Amino acid sequence: MVFYFSATGNSLWVAQYISNAFNEPLCSVPDLMRKQSSDCIRYTLRDKTEMLFFVFPVHSWGPALVMLRFIRELQLSGLKGNSVFAIGTCGDDCGYTDRIVRKELAGKCIPLEAFFSLKMPNNYILMRGFGTDPDHVKDEKLALAPQGMERIVQAIKTRNYSESLILRTGMSWLKSYVVYPAFKHFVVGRQSFRTTDACISCGLCAKVCPTGTIVMRNGKPEWQGKDCVQCTACIHRCPAKAIEFGRVSVGKGRYVHPVLSGKR
Ligand SMILES: Cc1cc2nc3c(=O)[nH]c(=O)nc-3n(C[C@H](O)[C@H](O)[C@H](O)COP(=O)(O)O)c2cc1C
Ligand code: SF4
Ligand code: SF4
Repeated sequence: MVFYFSATGNSLWVAQYISNAFNEPLCSVPDLMRKQSSDCIRYTLRDKTEMLFFVFPVHSWGPALVMLRFIRELQLSGLKGNSVFAIGTCGDDCGYTDRIVRKELAGKCIPLEAFFSLKMPNNYILMRGFGTDPDHVKDEKLALAPQGMERIVQAIKTRNYSESLILRTGMSWLKSYVVYPAFKHFVVGRQSFRTTDACISCGLCAKVCPTGTIVMRNGKPEWQGKDCVQCTACIHRCPAKAIEFGRVSVGKGRYVHPVLSGKR
């Protein structure tokens, strides 16, 4: 099974690649969590040959909160030496996301065999100083992604795991063990989304939000409660580019992976 979460399509593309390479079905984590709305998510492995994959975006040098919560709620049965892998997509640096995920899975008695990261176009635009990649950088990352995935698939097939398949640019401890906890504590749950007059009331933002934060009222979206995990799905996937985050996002580009084009 390939459990995945993806806000703007990068991790979805990776999950599909893995699903094809290892003939394992795909499972959207937000869909599964919506379906099983209790405190725990139950999943039973079909047999000892089933491979398990967790695919998600790296957020603030740690696993995206949707995936972290899923792992914490997961009640897995039938694990008998099955291979378990995690893949984080990131703009350029995943810090010690691997260590955080390994520890979380170990807490559920799920041993992680290997972690990989893949460089993909950046989608973080909710803070001053951060924006989407210039077109030539985005295009280069997308062009190199199949090669990167082939290296990951080969590493898994040959059981030859290398640190070079994990992207780190330095100061990983500070990023993952100081900034990531601060992000979870201070940033997640706060949001200042708003719509402009360009909104065409299509409702897609509410449909793609993994936390149910967006409610359509009188044909317009409203962001409610404190569950927003800042995944950026709503702001990037709005077909009318009608969503802004305070003034911080004004004038910045929007991004969706080609795998989502036409999925409205
Ligand atoms: C809240 C947030 C934090 C992010 N933090 C990082 C980061 O620490 N390092 C990084 O390289 N990219 C970071 N990014 C970029 C994403 O990891 C990257 O664009 C990812 O491939 C998006 O995947 P998706 O399209 O499946 O959502 C961040 C994006 C968001 C929305
Ligand atoms: S996705 Fe954009 S256009 Fe559609 S309802 Fe939301 S804000 Fe309006
Ligand atoms: S409101 Fe937008 S950024 Fe927040 S969780 Fe929902 S889709 Fe993600």
